[in-house]
Amino acid sequence: MGGWVSEGLEIARRAAALRALEYLDAARVVGLGTGSTVKVFLETAYDKLIGKTLVASSIDTALLAKSLGLSLSDPIAVERLDVYVDSADEVDPLGRMVKGGGGAMTMEKVLASAADLRVFIVDELKVVPRVPHSRPVPVEVIPQAVSIVKRRLEEAGFECRLRVPQGKMLPVITDIGGAIVDVVPPKHMEPERAADLLDGLPGVIGHGIFIGYADVLVIGRSSGRAEVVSYKRLREERVGRSP
Ligand code: 5RP
Repeated sequence: MGGWVSEGLEIARRAAALRALEYLDAARVVGLGTGSTVKVFLETAYDKLIGKTLVASSIDTALLAKSLGLSLSDPIAVERLDVYVDSADEVDPLGRMVKGGGGAMTMEKVLASAADLRVFIVDELKVVPRVPHSRPVPVEVIPQAVSIVKRRLEEAGFECRLRVPQGKMLPVITDIGGAIVDVVPPKHMEPERAADLLDGLPGVIGHGIFIGYADVLVIGRSSGRAEVVSYKRLREERVGRSP
C-alpha cells in the first residue's frame, strides 16, 4: 500500500473513531471488536474508556487493551452490554456487512447480539455496493467437520478454501477452537440466503455475514470528515410508518 493511501486510511479511521466517541458517553459496559480499526478506536477513546467495564471479542483485543493499561471483564461474566464498537471488512448501503478478516467473527456476533447499541466504524474504502463484494466470507467450523462442511457448501455452489498458515497443512485455529473456511457464495445468491444456509449447516460455529447488526455506521473519509448512518433510526421510522 502506497504512502498516500495508508496516510489517507489512517486519517479516515481516526475521523471515524473520533466521531464514534459520542456513543460512549452514557455507556457503562462496552464491547470491543477486533482488528486494526478497533486498535485506532481504542487509542482514540482511551480517556473515555477508563472506568468502564470493557469486554473484548478476542484475545488480540484483550491483549491490546491490557497493553494500553485498560482493564477488562471476561465475556463469561457479562450478560448484556450497553454499546458494542467494531469495524467490518465490507459494508453495503443496507448496512449488511462481511466481517471476520481477523477470524473473530463468532464472538463479535455474540457480543454485538447482546448490546443495546451496535456502532461500526469503517473507512470509506470498505463501503461496497453489495456484500460480499471482493472479500470471501469467513466461516468458522468445528475442525473435525471441515471436510463435510466444505463438501456441503461446494454442492450448494460456494467456492471454499480452508484458511491455513502459509506453507502449512494444519488450519488456522481461532480463539474458540474453530477452523476457518473462507467461502465465496454463488454470484446471484442474496447475502440473507447465504447467511440462512450457513446458520443451518451442522458443523458451522459462526460466519462473517452480519445482517441487521449495524445500528450506527460511521464512515471515515480521507478528507478527515466522518459521516454517520443511523440504521436504528431508519428501522424505527419504518416501524412507525407501518399500518
Ligand atoms: C475481525 C473483523 C474486523 O472487524 C475486520 O476484519 C476489519 O478489520 P480491520 O479493522 O483490521 O480492517 O471482523 O474479525
